[in-house]
Amino acid sequence: MKITIVGTGYVGLVTGTCFAEVGIDVTCVDIDINKIENLKKGISPIYEPGLDEMIERNVKKGKLKFSTDLSQCLDDTEVVFSAVGTPPDDDGSADLKYVLDVARTVGKHIKNHILIVTKSTVPVGTAKRVRDAIQEEIEKRGVNIDFDVASNPEFLKEGDAINDFLKPDRIVVGVESAKAEDIMKRLYKPFTLNGHPVIFMDVPSAEMTKYAANSMLATKISFMNDIANLCEIMGADVNMVRKGIGSDSRIGHKFIYPGIGYGGSCFPKDVKALIKTADQNGYTMRVLKAVEEVNDDQKSVLFTKLYNHYKGDLKGKTIAIWGLSFKPQTDDMREAPSLVLINKLLTEGCKVKAYDPVAMHEAQIKLGDKIEYSKDPYDALNDADALLLVTEWTEFRFPSWDVVKKLLKQPVVIDGRNIFDLNELKKEGFIYYCIGVDTSK
Ligand SMILES: NC(=O)c1ccc[n+]([C@@H]2O[C@H](COP(=O)([O-])OP(=O)(O)OC[C@H]3O[C@@H](n4cnc5c(N)ncnc54)[C@H](O)[C@@H]3O)[C@@H](O)[C@H]2O)c1
Repeated sequence: MKITIVGTGYVGLVTGTCFAEVGIDVTCVDIDINKIENLKKGISPIYEPGLDEMIERNVKKGKLKFSTDLSQCLDDTEVVFSAVGTPPDDDGSADLKYVLDVARTVGKHIKNHILIVTKSTVPVGTAKRVRDAIQEEIEKRGVNIDFDVASNPEFLKEGDAINDFLKPDRIVVGVESAKAEDIMKRLYKPFTLNGHPVIFMDVPSAEMTKYAANSMLATKISFMNDIANLCEIMGADVNMVRKGIGSDSRIGHKFIYPGIGYGGSCFPKDVKALIKTADQNGYTMRVLKAVEEVNDDQKSVLFTKLYNHYKGDLKGKTIAIWGLSFKPQTDDMREAPSLVLINKLLTEGCKVKAYDPVAMHEAQIKLGDKIEYSKDPYDALNDADALLLVTEWTEFRFPSWDVVKKLLKQPVVIDGRNIFDLNELKKEGFIYYCIGVDTSK
């Protein structure tokens, strides 16, 4: 079976590589010439554990190819997956220009039946717009070619994307015809042999499922952050509360960790887009509006703790930051809470020294020379007035506290992920703050 994946980013590259891994002939297409030239040389544009080795293996086997020209792939492909970006437009709605560009290119060059599957996260109704755009281009050519559209939203997590793709909890597919359902069943068979279901449904429901899933997860995070902030005021310990409620199987332990707000390329934009879709259709997503409001405030929580500690006198202070990516195991800096924090620190006249195991390059693209990039975690601490833990990379979990104390000018640690032990830090002589616990007691 031959398939084409359009958009070679986090989703497209992982999707293409995993399909190649199970023996499908895959061509990954991108308009970014640099990206494709690098991939042909074996250089991956993203950090994703296990991906580089898998790309290399499948390129060698001839199962995985790269191209910048979608039109040339269409003669010889059964399925086209569209995994291009859907960034937020100025008003918060999903910008569909890349998705519709792909559709028009397909319409201009399609010769035989193809199933066009949208993997990007897109609002309800997009499959119809994709169908119309393809049909319009076919009609302009004065030909009659049969094609199908389908929706197959992606649920992979950056940092564990390969595992998620190869062993998905579920695969959601929206189809309009038995032919499309049959093709999708064949394609996903290798991933469902051990019982993971493919859930077939109508296309609008599949499109909505992705937004509902991300919005539910974002809601859990904001809810827990709200509870954490109240715990701190009321003298309760959110770490205990989290364990207490997570043990209830109706609630579960996942996505109820308090922190510094959600970021990344999906939750912020998908929550915004769903709010916008509802507004445009005469409905108000009251819960999601609150989720967003809590999240916006939570991104400032570390800054506020530091500001209060130094009674507003931050000018000239040096602040060490551990972790820049929006979560561990990824170099993705899109909507990372670290960016909000750093901008606030810079506005107050602080000097920022930061270290991240993999996101330094991406951070440099976003922040340039506004901050100092340290060569390791300890290097960031030299003469710093506080250490702020932003991303919970495993390598930050057990630092040598005596070394940390020697290097810091002031023994102040502010933990945005509650990974350090309050009693240990106090015993070591640190002033320690975390989320959802009054550490002054
Ligand atoms: N990143 C995630 O964790 C994740 C998870 C699930 C779903 N999604 C969704 O998947 C989609 C893609 O996300 P991503 O993070 O992979 O994006 P990305 O920005 O990493 O990659 C998108 C790629 O599409 C390419 N592109 C744009 N227009 C093109 C065109 N006309 N032809 C060929 N290539 C084109 C870009 O050059 C870019 O390389 C988005 O809708 C996103 O919401 C992302």
